[in-house]
Amino acid sequence: SKNLCGKSLLTLLDLSSDDIRYLLELAVNFKNLKRTKTPHRYLEGKNIVLIFEKTSTRTRCSFEVAGMDLGLGVTYLESSGSQIGKKESIKDTARVLGRIYDGIEYRGYEQKTVEILAQYSGIPVWNGLTDRFHPTQMLADLMTIEEKFGHLKNLNLTFMGDARNNIGNSLMIACAKTGINFIACAPKKLWPEEDLIKQAYEIAKKSGCSINFTEDVKKAASGSDIIYTDIWVSMGEPQNIWEEKINLLKPYQVNADVMSKAKKDAVFMHCLPAFHDLNTAIASEIYRKFGLKEMEVSDEVFESSQSIVFDEAENRMHTVKAVIYSTLC
Ligand code: CP
Ligand code: NVA
Repeated sequence: SKNLCGKSLLTLLDLSSDDIRYLLELAVNFKNLKRTKTPHRYLEGKNIVLIFEKTSTRTRCSFEVAGMDLGLGVTYLESSGSQIGKKESIKDTARVLGRIYDGIEYRGYEQKTVEILAQYSGIPVWNGLTDRFHPTQMLADLMTIEEKFGHLKNLNLTFMGDARNNIGNSLMIACAKTGINFIACAPKKLWPEEDLIKQAYEIAKKSGCSINFTEDVKKAASGSDIIYTDIWVSMGEPQNIWEEKINLLKPYQVNADVMSKAKKDAVFMHCLPAFHDLNTAIASEIYRKFGLKEMEVSDEVFESSQSIVFDEAENRMHTVKAVIYSTLC
């Protein structure tokens, strides 16, 4: 699809259903090339820069390895080692990087920032997560779902938890665009953004799927093919809201009881990182404060054979490669 050439990916709303289909097929090809150790340095001589104002494991590594596999030069930049956000505005940064590089990945806070980068750099910009959207995660998730079920249309996906965060917002759009029936199961306060819901309804009408919202966990899980969750407190959310959010979200934990309501061959998905045990510093802090050993997902479900979270993580790299390749033409 030549029509992605030179384009940015700031939200999944930027892509048509055909674009998504094209990217997923491209990603499958790249996965095969990787598996068969077939070189694919198609973009030798070009360079990309990865900006991270928040921490990352999957997104950074996916962009770095995808870039290197494609023969690109890759620079990693963070706010602390650069002028970004302190001495220099995003608008000026965009104009500088646009003169030096062929593409920019950005992870940070406001969606506005990634929009300014795209507007002023004149080169493709890829959103590696903002407060509102995480589009490259969505492509990996769709690829993983298709690998598991062989198709996307008419599947039922239930998102449990903070449905108003970047993942909740993005998944609703991803499902609407690809014909997956979507249910957000969350306290009303944490349903996706109202304006996005309106857009999702319009998109879903065209692809013939449903978009629903509920606070009823049993109802939401029953008949589901995919139960998806994300952390209850996202990067950048202030500590003083933790307690309120955790208490609000406690009833929405994905555990064996919830999975038992879903279809027999249902899968569990999570973009990661996940709080399913006490094995991290933040998890221990939460345990001290709130007495919770597990948060959004029980360790039992996370480690079960229904869990396909590491397939998702691997597919980040293959789908990011498809995005870079199709836009840096
Ligand atoms: N899922 C995801 O984006 O992970 P990272 O924060 O590790 O990049
Ligand atoms: N909602 C999470 C996603 C992490 C990949 C966050 O923004 O921290």
